Amino acid sequence: MPTERRWVTLTTKGASQMNELVKMLQKAAKDEHAAVIQYLRHAYMLGEGEEACEIEAIARDEMRHFWMLSRWIRKLGGTPTIERNPVDLGGTAISDWMHRDEEAEKRAIALYRDYIAHIKDPALKADIERILADEENHREIFAHLAGKFRRLQSAEGRVPPQSEAPSLLPADREALEWGVRHEYTALLQYLFHSFMVKDEEASRQLELQAINEMQHFGWLAEELAGKGREMPLEPHPADLSLEPSSMLRADIKLEQDTIRKYEHFIQRVQDAKLKKLLTFIQNHEMYHEGLFKRLLSQLQG
Ligand SMILES: [Fe+2]
Ligand SMILES: [Fe+2]
Ligand SMILES: [Fe+2]
Repeated sequence: MPTERRWVTLTTKGASQMNELVKMLQKAAKDEHAAVIQYLRHAYMLGEGEEACEIEAIARDEMRHFWMLSRWIRKLGGTPTIERNPVDLGGTAISDWMHRDEEAEKRAIALYRDYIAHIKDPALKADIERILADEENHREIFAHLAGKFRRLQSAEGRVPPQSEAPSLLPADREALEWGVRHEYTALLQYLFHSFMVKDEEASRQLELQAINEMQHFGWLAEELAGKGREMPLEPHPADLSLEPSSMLRADIKLEQDTIRKYEHFIQRVQDAKLKKLLTFIQNHEMYHEGLFKRLLSQLQG
């Protein structure tokens, strides 16, 4: 009897520690998610140029961190989260945006240093150390950019007032805003499904298509920012099914609805360049639909 009780105590303790660890990683994943959106919005508002590319590259690093953390959450028996912690989009001068991004990096550095002190698993510790090294590098880049834009003190360093924004027809704006929100949703949904599905081929394919949706997101958000409009920050509701066939059925439905919606926009948008872009993206979605259908029939054997 005493042995049995001891066993129970130990496993309970183990489970609660595991739970604690999952919660820590989920918090970090929500921060990484926020960083991706905050930095992308800043990069797109900056428009084309060396600095925007640099910030976009940092956002891609944060996406990789999100992916690494989510994979660990799954490995530890938890459920990855697609929730996002608050983003800091205050400030009107670019130097101010860069300063806020630097502050976000400082918070991440403090968080990961604290995690490293508490994590015992050597593989997880190594991954967190790798993430921390990235954040330290990012902090330096943002500090440098904040200084650079502060020194510029010119029209370049300021956000153009709304009155100077190029014109954008309502139909074109609606297509872009809907598209950004949709692509954000698709990317989160496919990533979540890729984390949860056990079948390796399905997981890899879902991950690849999530990356493709992220490209779509970038193209549309950049287009919107080029017209002086802020990218929407909220996705549509995502399907978080846990059973593989339900996941794929939801993914197929999302693609079908999207193909129809893009068709509707293609007929209505005025800008020829935008029409071409939407047609190109719609073509990818048709590929996704076919791919998900094949994966579903493979899974159903
Ligand atoms: Fe990060
Ligand atoms: Fe897409
Ligand atoms: Fe798609």
